[in-house]
Amino acid sequence: MGRTVPTPALDPRLEAVLNLIRVETHADIGSDHAHLPIRLIREGRVRHCVVVELHPGPLALARHNVNRARLEDRIDVREGDGLGPLHPGEVESASVTGMGAGTIAGILRRGGGRVPPALVLQPNDSPLPLRSWAREAGYHLRAERLIPGYWPYPVLQLESSHGPDPAYANLPLSAALRYGPHLLREGSALLRQKIWADVVRLTPLAAPGRTAQTELETAQEALTLLGAP
Ligand SMILES: C[S@@+](CC[C@H](N)C(=O)[O-])C[C@H]1O[C@@H](n2cnc3c(N)ncnc32)[C@H](O)[C@@H]1O
Repeated sequence: MGRTVPTPALDPRLEAVLNLIRVETHADIGSDHAHLPIRLIREGRVRHCVVVELHPGPLALARHNVNRARLEDRIDVREGDGLGPLHPGEVESASVTGMGAGTIAGILRRGGGRVPPALVLQPNDSPLPLRSWAREAGYHLRAERLIPGYWPYPVLQLESSHGPDPAYANLPLSAALRYGPHLLREGSALLRQKIWADVVRLTPLAAPGRTAQTELETAQEALTLLGAP
């Protein structure tokens, strides 16, 4: 009998991602260490997982960790760009985490018919491009989290659906796209801190006609919505 390899620990943002996934077949795009897929399989949240990596170093690391965990029959590690190495309809859901929102949006836009019906996304900066993509592409926001860390990490759970996304109902669109409809309704202390930090950063930059002015007005609108702390 060989030694049991310890289950990898996840940082709080990936723990939050893990808790939003429970399907038969899942793909983790840009997995690097493959810790998330290993935990998904070990915890019985996913039966089969595809790992996609673009760069040789992280690809080798993912293969090494999957082999070490003796999960080669459950986790298929593939080299390639974004959703490209997947067959259309092959997985029920995908996660893309730890990258800029623009990079993640690019992966989804290039994905075409390979984008699965369920997604969990964790950008390292403003998720606004992902919320905009979701509205154009027919995905509804099912859940949002804001996870404390080096900075507040947003986590978005999306599902393919029809019609307007009810998450945005009765909310000003610019504030909801920037700060998140579910997060605004929840109104956590961390979200308030984030919006106040935006107000402080944008105030000296704002002037009529400047983007900073519009962004400042959006931040102030969001604070008004949240009301007194
Ligand atoms: C910062 S790491 C994040 C790793 C892990 N997902 C996490 O959240 O801890 C980003 C990873 O995405 C990979 N990557 C970047 N663009 C990619 C793409 N278009 N397709 C597949 N992998 C990509 C990089 O090689 C890198 O390993």
